[in-house]
Amino acid sequence: MLENLQQQPADKILALMQLYREDTRDQKIDLGVGVYKDASGNTPVMRAVKAAERRLVDQQTTKAYTGLAGDPAFADAMIDLVLGDVVARDRIAAIATPGGTGAIRQALELIRIASPDAKVWLSDPTWPNHPSIIKFLGMQSATYRYFDSETCNVNFDGMLADLENVAAGDVVLLHGCCHNPTGANLTADQWPQMIALLKSKGAVPMVDIAYQGFGDGLDDDAAATRLVAAGFDEVLIAASCSKNFGVYRERTGILMAIARDPEQKALAQANLNFLNRQNYSFPPDHGARVVTTILTDPELRADWEAELEETRLGMLALREQLAGELKRLTNSDRFEFVADHRGMFSRLGVSPEVVEQLRTEHGIYMVGDSRLNIAGLNEQTVPILAAAVAKSI
Ligand code: LMR
Repeated sequence: MLENLQQQPADKILALMQLYREDTRDQKIDLGVGVYKDASGNTPVMRAVKAAERRLVDQQTTKAYTGLAGDPAFADAMIDLVLGDVVARDRIAAIATPGGTGAIRQALELIRIASPDAKVWLSDPTWPNHPSIIKFLGMQSATYRYFDSETCNVNFDGMLADLENVAAGDVVLLHGCCHNPTGANLTADQWPQMIALLKSKGAVPMVDIAYQGFGDGLDDDAAATRLVAAGFDEVLIAASCSKNFGVYRERTGILMAIARDPEQKALAQANLNFLNRQNYSFPPDHGARVVTTILTDPELRADWEAELEETRLGMLALREQLAGELKRLTNSDRFEFVADHRGMFSRLGVSPEVVEQLRTEHGIYMVGDSRLNIAGLNEQTVPILAAAVAKSI
């Protein structure tokens, strides 16, 4: 049996992680996978997470199974964090999932059951695992223009022109904030225009929100998702806790399915529970319980928000520093967009050859499309990166 297997295509982000690990140079900089690192290069456990875990160790009395949808308190807390009160709770079905990727996978499986011929529209570019999972599930997809590689900003006209071709019932996958891989985001004026177009087409929006709190703040980063949620009868939302709670390896995420009424919500909930049962039965609980503990305890929540805000402001400062250094060293405004982009990533807009040269000659690792993880930098490594880029272009 096993001899029939063939090699699967390597995930380019994870392949890069491996290359970095194997690099024996002392002076290497990992700007590949989206993981936050502090000034000393560590990915710390957040203070509130440690405190919540301590509390769980002391107070948890059982590890018996939760429900198939996970702990209902987790769903309530996350719906509140992501959506606030813009959609009535009795219209929202939800399941806890293994991370944001798990939520995306379950959302796509739900779409495949409900509407097998629906096409899923993806931004060009998008997170590489989106098209990979869609292909694996044998679903149809199409792309819409998103990024203008000249300006390194959103190509909004191109996006609207391509979304004109969306058919009724097609699913349009949107990044709620902090677009991955580009860092370029729609403005507050552009979102309503795009939503109006999707509504006129009868599209079903699916939002991937993995970086809430990393861009402009917790509420600002959720604003577009809330606008979408409030604007349609049906919306799927995949939210990740990996980054904003720093619980990457705990695999903590949630899929929300907004239905037109409570009756359809109940049907959607039953299907989501079924999907969890088919794929892994009960979703992981530890990370979800930590997140719930933090979100429902005013003191822990305040501390978490404060630490998240420090992280966010730190990333913004690094963006300013990098844009400034690049301006100085290249004597041009070519990289000014780095300061305007938001979230963990920016696509630098340099060629694959330059990316390769940065890795081989300077030990600087970024994804081949020139996506770099801003949160992997620090004050000391920014000038090193800027000098290497200025030398290589
Ligand atoms: C990334 O894009 O680097 C992260 O979302 C991590 C991953 O799983 O790819």
